[in-house]
Amino acid sequence: MILQAHLHSLCLLMLYLATGYGQEGKFSGPLKPMTFSIYEGQEPSQIIFQFKANPPAVTFELTGETDNIFKIEREGLLYYTKALDRETRSTHNLQVAALDANGAIVEGPVPITIEVKDVNDNRPTFLQSKYEGSVRQNSRPGKPFLYVNATDLDDPATPNGQLSYQIVIQLPMINNVMYFQINNKTGGISLTREGMFRGALVGLSQSEKGSWVCPFQRCFLFPSPLLLIGSQELNPAKNPSYNLVISVKDMGGQSENSFSDTTSVDIIVTENIWKAPEPVEMVENSTDPHPIKITQVRWNDPGAQYSLVDKEKLPRFPFSIDQEGDIYVTQPLDREEKDAYVFYAVAKDEYGKPLSYPLEIHVKVQDINDNPPTCPSPVTVFEVQENERLGNSIGTLTAHDSDEENTANSLLNYRIVEQTPKLPMDGLFLIQTYAGMLQLAKQSLKKQDTPQYNLTIEVSDKDFKTLCFVQINVIDINDQIPIFEKSDYGNLTLAEDTNVGSTILTIQATDADEPFTGSSKILYHVIKGDSEGRLGVDTDPHTNTGYVIIKKPLDFETAAISNIVFKAENPEPLVFGVTYNASSFAKFTLFVTDVNEAPEFSQYVFQAKVSEDVAIGTKVGNVTAKDPEGLDISYSLRGDTRGWLKIDHVTGEIFSVAPLDREAGSPYRVQVVATEVGGSSLSSVSQFHLILTDVNDNPPRLAKDYMDLYFCHPLSAPGSLIFEATDDDQHLFRGPHFTFSIASESLQNDWQVSKINGTHARLSTRHTDFEEKEYVVSIRINDGGRPPLESTVSLTVTFCSCGEDGCFRPAGHQPGIPTVGMAVGILLTTLLVIGIILAVVFIRMKTDKGKDNVESAQASEVKPLRS
Ligand SMILES: *[C@@H]1O[C@H](CO)[C@@H](O)[C@H](O)[C@H]1NC(C)=O
Ligand SMILES: *[C@@H]1O[C@H](CO)[C@@H](O)[C@H](O)[C@H]1NC(C)=O
Ligand SMILES: *[C@@H]1O[C@H](CO)[C@@H](O)[C@H](O)[C@H]1NC(C)=O
Ligand SMILES: *[C@@H]1O[C@H](CO)[C@@H](O)[C@H](O)[C@H]1NC(C)=O
Ligand SMILES: *[C@@H]1O[C@H](CO)[C@@H](O)[C@H](O)[C@H]1NC(C)=O
Ligand SMILES: *[C@@H]1O[C@H](CO)[C@@H](O)[C@H](O)[C@H]1NC(C)=O
Ligand SMILES: *[C@@H]1O[C@H](CO)[C@@H](O)[C@H](O)[C@H]1NC(C)=O
Ligand SMILES: *[C@@H]1O[C@H](CO)[C@@H](O)[C@H](O)[C@H]1NC(C)=O
Repeated sequence: MILQAHLHSLCLLMLYLATGYGQEGKFSGPLKPMTFSIYEGQEPSQIIFQFKANPPAVTFELTGETDNIFKIEREGLLYYTKALDRETRSTHNLQVAALDANGAIVEGPVPITIEVKDVNDNRPTFLQSKYEGSVRQNSRPGKPFLYVNATDLDDPATPNGQLSYQIVIQLPMINNVMYFQINNKTGGISLTREGMFRGALVGLSQSEKGSWVCPFQRCFLFPSPLLLIGSQELNPAKNPSYNLVISVKDMGGQSENSFSDTTSVDIIVTENIWKAPEPVEMVENSTDPHPIKITQVRWNDPGAQYSLVDKEKLPRFPFSIDQEGDIYVTQPLDREEKDAYVFYAVAKDEYGKPLSYPLEIHVKVQDINDNPPTCPSPVTVFEVQENERLGNSIGTLTAHDSDEENTANSLLNYRIVEQTPKLPMDGLFLIQTYAGMLQLAKQSLKKQDTPQYNLTIEVSDKDFKTLCFVQINVIDINDQIPIFEKSDYGNLTLAEDTNVGSTILTIQATDADEPFTGSSKILYHVIKGDSEGRLGVDTDPHTNTGYVIIKKPLDFETAAISNIVFKAENPEPLVFGVTYNASSFAKFTLFVTDVNEAPEFSQYVFQAKVSEDVAIGTKVGNVTAKDPEGLDISYSLRGDTRGWLKIDHVTGEIFSVAPLDREAGSPYRVQVVATEVGGSSLSSVSQFHLILTDVNDNPPRLAKDYMDLYFCHPLSAPGSLIFEATDDDQHLFRGPHFTFSIASESLQNDWQVSKINGTHARLSTRHTDFEEKEYVVSIRINDGGRPPLESTVSLTVTFCSCGEDGCFRPAGHQPGIPTVGMAVGILLTTLLVIGIILAVVFIRMKTDKGKDNVESAQASEVKPLRS
C-alpha cells in the first residue's frame, strides 16, 4: 500500500515536472481562495494545483466535500483520484489549510471550489412512454392541446441538456399533410395550418372592406382586418384518432452524436360543437315580450366570451348574445324595413383572442299582414268620351301594399262601393276584382246626364280595407275640327336681326268641341316653309290663340322669303269619319330684310408655322373672311410691331417682308382686319399667330466672360479649369450638345480640352512648365446642329504668383512702352504689390506655420483674379 502510494506520488511528481507545474503561475502558487473547472468523466490522477508553503508552514491539509476523490500531498499538490460525475455533485467545496511542523494551522483554511463541467453522458428520457390527448375539430392552429416532456440529467445550461422535440411520424398521414406540429422546445403539440383548409371560400364575397387577399382557402375578413382560421380537415367523422411518434434529442437536436428517446402519442379528435346554427325564421312585428331567444351557439369549452358582429353596420341591430351563447332578438322586427339579417357570432378567450372563426347567423323575417293597401293618390281622375263603347277600358286603379309581394298579404281586391250620381242608373261601371281595371258596364255615357261621376272603390287585402276615390269626367267626342279664323295672314316683313323670342304674329283657330278637353285644345304646327325650325307656335290654353315666336335667328342671306303654312290639330284623335280639311290650315309670307353685317372671319385665330429662316417675300399664311351681304373685303394688318409681315388686301395672304427670328419671340402675334369695301365699311378683327420654328442660326459662344482664369505659378502639378458654352438656338428636350477642341495645333502640346457634358468642358494643362504670364487658348466649339455651326473662342488663362485669395497680374504683361503716367502707375503698383506680398508672407508665416500649401489643388479651381 505504502509502496503504491509512493509510486503514485512519484508518478504525480513526474507528471508534475513534465507539465511544468513547477513554475509559479497558472498551476502553482501560494495558498489563496481558488476555483477550478474540471470535466466530468476524465481520467483520474490529474493534478489540479501546487500550493507553495510559506514558512513556518510545511504541510497542507484538505477538508470539505472531497468525496474521497480529492487529495492533497503534504507538499501541497492538489489532485483527484477518480473520474468526477457532474450528476452526482456538480460543485465540490473544499478547504485547504497550511500547517506548521507541529500540525497547527498557520494559514487558511481557504475555500477551493471545484466546478464539475458537464459532458453529454446522459440520454434524454420521456417521462411517459405513452401519452394520450384529445383535440377538438376546428381548434385554432398553433395552440397546444398536449405537452410531452422528457428530461436529461445533463447540464441544461449546456447543449448536453438541451432537448429538442420532433414528430417522427403521424398516422394516418393523408396526402402527405401534417395535421400536427410540435414546439421543439416546449414539447407542446398543436394543429398545423397547412392542409387544413380545403373548404369553400366563405366570407370573402362579403369583404368589400378588405382589399387584401386571403392567404388560406378559408378566411373571414372583418372590418378591422382579422384573419381567423380553423382546422377544417380534421374531421372526427372521417378519422377519429391519430397516433404520433415523437422523438426527443439532446444537444439541441443539432448534433449527430446526440442521444434520443421516442414516445408515442394517441390523439382523439372530438367533434367541434362550434357550428353555425340553422337559419332562423322570425315573424315580424311580434307582440311577445322581448328579448326572445332565437338560436344559440356554443364554444367547445366553458368560459368563452361571446359577441355578435354586424358587418352591415345597420342603424338598428336588434340582436344580442349572452354569455351562455344564447342569441336573442331584442326588438320587434319589421320585414318592410329589412327582410333578412346576416351577422356573426364570435367566441373569444379571456384575453379577447378569437378562439375560432366566426359563425354566420341567418335570420329571415317572415311577413305578416301588417300593412293596409294604399291608394295611388287621394283622387284618381279618368276621362271617358261620350261615345265610348261598352266594355271599353276607362283606366286602371293600382293600389299598393307594402307586405311581401306575391303573398296573400299583398294580394289586393277591388270593389266599387259607391257611384255618384246614380244617373241615369247605378252600376254604370265595373272594376276587375284583382286587376283594378275600370270598364263601362251598361251603356255609353251622355254628358247631358252628368259630366262627372265619383266612384268610391274599396281596396282590400286579407285583413285591411282602404277606400280609394276615382273621378270620371265624361268628355265630348272629338267630332269638330279646328277652323282658322282666316286662311291667309298676309305678308310680314322682319329685319333679319329681329330678336330670338320675339312674337311676330298671333294666329287663331277655334274648335267647337267641349272646352278644356283634348277634343278642343289646339296645337299649331308649322308644316311648310321653315325647314330650319326658326319659328315656333305656343298656344294659350284658355283661348287657343297661337303665338308665332322666333326660335332661331332669321337670315336674309339664306331665306329672304318664306311661305309659311300652319296646321291646327287636337291632341285627341278625331272620331271615325271626321278629318281635318283646308279650314285647319293657314299661311303667311315672311319677308326678311337685310341688315348690313360686318365681315366674318372663318376662324377666330389663324395659325401658321414657318421656319425662322424663310426668305423675304415668302407666303407665311392666309386669312379668309366673308361679308354676309357679299360685299368685297379688304384685308389689313394691325400690330405688326416688328414690321415683319404684309398682307395682300384682296386675297388675305400674308407674306414676310423682313428676316424672321425665333429668338426674338415665337409665336409672333398680329391682328388681321377685314373691312367691307363700299357699304358702311364695317370691319372685324381676328388674330394671326405666326409660329417660328428654330433653325440652327446661332453659333456657340462662351456662357460668360471668363476674364479671371488663373493658375498659381509655378505649377506644381498639371491643373485644369471648367468653362461653359451656350448658344441661343432652341434645343429641344436634351439641351445643347457642344463638342470642344483646341483650335490651334501649336497649343495642343500645352493644353487639352475634354468634354464634361453638353455644355461644360474642362481645359487642362498638359505639363507644369508654364511661364508666369497670360496664355490665350483658342478653343473650337461646335454645336452639332443642322447645319452645324462652329465658333472659336478664346480663354485667357493667367499664370501668376498666388496671394492669399487670388493672383497678382505679372508685371510687364502689357506690351508697349509705358508713358510717364503709366510708369508712375507701374511704380506705385509695384510698390503696393511688394507691400502686399510682404504683408501676405508675414501673415502666412504667422497663421500657416507648418502647413504645406498645395498649389495644384488651388490651381484646379477657378478663382477671381485680384487686379
Ligand atoms: C417537464 O417535467 C419536468 C420534471 O418533471 C418539470 O419540471 C417541467 O415543468 C415539465 N415541463 C412541462 C412542459 O410539463
Ligand atoms: C425549433 O423551432 C424553431 C422555430 O419554431 C426553429 O427555428 C428551429 O430551427 C427548430 N430547431 C430545430 C433543432 O429543429
Ligand atoms: C305592427 O302591426 C300593427 C297591426 O298589427 C300595425 O299597426 C303596426 O303598424 C305594425 N308595425 C309595423 C312596424 O309594421
Ligand atoms: C266629386 O267629388 C268632388 C270632390 O272630390 C266634388 O267636388 C264633386 O262635386 C263631386 N262630383 C259629383 C258629381 O258628385
Ligand atoms: C304680299 O307680297 C306679294 C309679293 O310681294 C304681293 O304680290 C302681294 O300683293 C302682297 N300681299 C299683300 C296683302 O300685301
Ligand atoms: C271643313 O269642314 C267643316 C265642317 O267640319 C266645314 O264647316 C268647312 O266648310 C270645311 N271647309 C272646307 C274648306 O271644306
Ligand atoms: C387659305 O387658308 C385656308 C385655311 O385657313 C386654306 O384652306 C386655303 O387653302 C388657304 N388658301 C391658300 C391660297 O393658301
Ligand atoms: C454639366 O457639368 C457641369 C459641371 O460638372 C455641371 O455644373 C452642370 O450641371 C452639368 N450640366 C448638365 C446638364 O448635366
